[in-house]
Amino acid sequence: MELEQHANAYRAPSPLPLEFDADGDLVASSLLPHLTPPAAAILAYLQAQYKSPKLFSSLPAALSHPIPIPNHLLLPFVDMDTDGLFIMDTFTPPFMDAVLSHVQSYRRYLAGRTSTSNVLRTLDIRHVPGFTWINDFLFQFISRPLTVLLFPKVPPLDWFQGYIISYNTSEAIPAEATSTRTSLPEHTDDSETTINLCLSPATAFDGGELVVGETRGVGGEEEECGFELKQGAVIMHAGRRVHSVSEVTGGERHVLIQWARSKAFRRENCPCCFLSGREGECICGPKWF
Ligand SMILES: [Fe+2]
Repeated sequence: MELEQHANAYRAPSPLPLEFDADGDLVASSLLPHLTPPAAAILAYLQAQYKSPKLFSSLPAALSHPIPIPNHLLLPFVDMDTDGLFIMDTFTPPFMDAVLSHVQSYRRYLAGRTSTSNVLRTLDIRHVPGFTWINDFLFQFISRPLTVLLFPKVPPLDWFQGYIISYNTSEAIPAEATSTRTSLPEHTDDSETTINLCLSPATAFDGGELVVGETRGVGGEEEECGFELKQGAVIMHAGRRVHSVSEVTGGERHVLIQWARSKAFRRENCPCCFLSGREGECICGPKWF
């Protein structure tokens, strides 16, 4: 059975304390109590601008005519202390616990119905029932406006995809449910910017730092730094930064990753040559565009 059919067939009640209207759209005001105060101020502003309780159903229009979020609302929200890495404390921990419980229940449901183990260790958010709104929210609320502010050379973003990625030590794996990934080697992302939202409480795992190093192809002078994730906080970095996840030595670590791209940027820059810092003529050909 296809994943979309599984999602349609899943009938368990969602533990998420949110309100959805008859069309299945999230009522934006029901999210407000689950955000930190600076995040709630931004959502309240967007709600007032859109003049609709259905904030996220207007996404296609918002992509062609985005409403800019004023810097005086964005700046108190962003921890700018780090070198090209930005941290936004966004969701309350109890809400992240509810999100994780929902995702894990659905994974257990899927585990008995699909033989594709990759589905379980890297779960596309589009396939999690009752949860697709978070992709739109993170894109409109964080990836797009903060890329304008923090990475001004990148044209407006207009593409995104999100996944939940899980790490377990072998003792912690509920055999039927999740993955055997314990770390992630150094790599760059095929994205203009990447955000990383930690769903797990810090007490749920040991190790598992996000380690971020130089900007690939640039020979940047950034020092390699390890970051302990905080439940409910989003970390944003350029996809071109070399990064990895250190060994998880205990417990389970669940994160939501969203890649965001700009089609205009990719029409002008071959992503492969750009990542590798190759100057001049593209050596890759049109398949990369
Ligand atoms: Fe990555």
